[in-house]
Amino acid sequence: MASGSAGWLDSPAKYGRVSRFFHWAMAALLLWQFTSAILRVVAKDTAVAGFFWSTHFSVGFSIFVLVWLRGIWGLYNYASGHRPSYAGIHFGRLAVLGHLVLYALMAMIPTMAIVRAYGSGRGFTPFGIEIFAATGERIPALMAPANAAHGLLGWLLLVLIVGHIMMSVLHRVVWKEDILSRMSAR
Ligand code: HEM
Repeated sequence: MASGSAGWLDSPAKYGRVSRFFHWAMAALLLWQFTSAILRVVAKDTAVAGFFWSTHFSVGFSIFVLVWLRGIWGLYNYASGHRPSYAGIHFGRLAVLGHLVLYALMAMIPTMAIVRAYGSGRGFTPFGIEIFAATGERIPALMAPANAAHGLLGWLLLVLIVGHIMMSVLHRVVWKEDILSRMSAR
């Protein structure tokens, strides 16, 4: 189908409405999530940090759900040949690799935290919805991966997101490649 299909699907020229919604919803959730993580470091024990931190689990869970929906939608569009290509643009291969790493981190970071929450035996109730109940039983092996890497990979994701934003600006300003408009609503 061409960009034709009323703009819902992706087309070779630009991302469709659904992909654009997923992209900007993810950007908003990650902005909120990193606000909670940054305030936890720079302004611990303040009311505003406490407020944002109280949302960290629920927003993280939303990112976990969204990354799967987004990934499945992206793969569907890719497989049916709808997605815009990175061939012929500056650092196109690096862009593809970078996007894969972003997806991997967006999936791994909340997944390991949710597995840790299970292993803690304290249950997990994002938005007050019980995903699993408290068991009172700690399973250290399930907590170890997030204890070792959740925060670290979270900060790595932030660095890569800053690089992602900078590259989109460089494409436009330096190389005059209008990549950004493929993802912006018009
Ligand atoms: C993509 C989603 C997420 C991102 C980007 C993220 C990011 C971060 C970052 C950067 C930190 C380090 C803060 C510091 O240095 O003090 C952190 C800590 C933490 N996060 Fe998340 N987080 C996400 C999802 C979640 C989820 C879903 C949960 C709960 C199930 C969670 C629970 C925690 C906890 C308990 C900590 C403190 C302990 C630690 O650093 O491992 N996070 N998060």
